[in-house]
Amino acid sequence: MPSYLVILTGANGGLGKAIAQSWISLPVSGPISLHLVLVGRSKKALDSLKEELIATQSDFQMELTVSTVSDVDLSQVDELDEHWGRIKRATLNKPYDKQYFILNAGSLGDLSKPISGYTTKSIQTYMDVNVVSTLALTSHFLRHCQETGFKGKGYLINISSLLAIQPFPYWGTYAVGKAARDMIMATVAKEVREDQVRSLSYAPGPLDGLMQEAVRTSLGDLEQQSTYQKMHQEGKLVTCKDSATKLIHLLLEDAFASGSHVDYFDE
Ligand SMILES: NC(=O)c1ccc[n+]([C@@H]2O[C@H](COP(=O)([O-])OP(=O)(O)OC[C@H]3O[C@@H](n4cnc5c(N)ncnc54)[C@H](OP(=O)(O)O)[C@@H]3O)[C@@H](O)[C@H]2O)c1
Repeated sequence: MPSYLVILTGANGGLGKAIAQSWISLPVSGPISLHLVLVGRSKKALDSLKEELIATQSDFQMELTVSTVSDVDLSQVDELDEHWGRIKRATLNKPYDKQYFILNAGSLGDLSKPISGYTTKSIQTYMDVNVVSTLALTSHFLRHCQETGFKGKGYLINISSLLAIQPFPYWGTYAVGKAARDMIMATVAKEVREDQVRSLSYAPGPLDGLMQEAVRTSLGDLEQQSTYQKMHQEGKLVTCKDSATKLIHLLLEDAFASGSHVDYFDE
C-alpha cells in the first residue's frame, strides 16, 4: 500500500485548512496510507481541525493518521530548530513512499506604507516569519530526506504569490519575501536530484479569506484597494477549496518542472 506523509504549516488558516481537507478527499483508486502533520500556532484550533478531518474522512481505502504540532510561531527564529525537532518526531520517523512538506504559513505585513515608510525592525520581523523560517525549515527537511536515504521521494512546496514575479506599489516586504521563497525552491531544484526531492512554488490566486479582507481594508494604494474591493463584490475571488484542489492535482500529476512557479490561473 503506498504511504504518504504530508507536513503542512499554517494549517489553521484559510488555504492551509483547505489543503488539509483536500488531502483527505483524494480521489483514491486503491488502498493508501496518509499521515498528516498539521503545524500551527493555536493548539485548540489544530485539535479541532484534527477531529474534523478524522470525522469527515469516509473512504475506507484510506488509512488516515493525523498529528499536530502547536505553538510554532515562525517569528521566533531562535526556536526554529526546536520546532523542527517536534515536527520530525510527529512524522513518526517511518519510511514513506512520498513525503510532502507544504510551506503555506505566511503573513501580509504592513501594506499601508511604501518602502520609504518602513522601519528596520518591521523589515526584520517580516523576513524572519516569511523568509528565514522558510529557508531554515527547507534546510531541515532536505537533511531529513538525506538521513532517511531518500527512501521515499521528497516534495517541497512553497505557497507563493503573483507578487513573487510581478511588483506592485505598497507590497514591498510581501513581494520581496515571496520572491526569496521562490528562489529557495529554484535553488533546491538545482542542488538536489529530481528523483530525490522535487520543489514547486504555487501561487494560489486571490483567495476569498481573511488575508484578502486585510488587503481590502489596509492597502495604502487606493487604486489597487478599489480593484480588490470590486473583485470581492463581483465574486471574482478564488475559493480556498478550489485553489487547494488545484494544488493537490498538480502534486499528484507530478508533471510540473521542479523549481518552477505555477499559478492557479495557469492552464
Ligand atoms: N489570501 C490570498 O489572496 C493569497 C494570495 C496569494 C498567496 N497567498 C499565500 O497563501 C498562504 C496562505 O494564506 P491565507 O490566505 O490562507 O491566509 P491566512 O488565512 O491569513 O493564513 C495564514 C497562515 O499563516 C500562519 N501564520 C502567519 N504568521 C505566522 C507566524 N508568525 N507563525 C506561524 N504561523 C503564522 C497563520 O497562522 P494562525 O492561524 O496562527 O494565524 C495562518 O495559518 C500565505 O503564504 C499567503 O501569503 C494568499
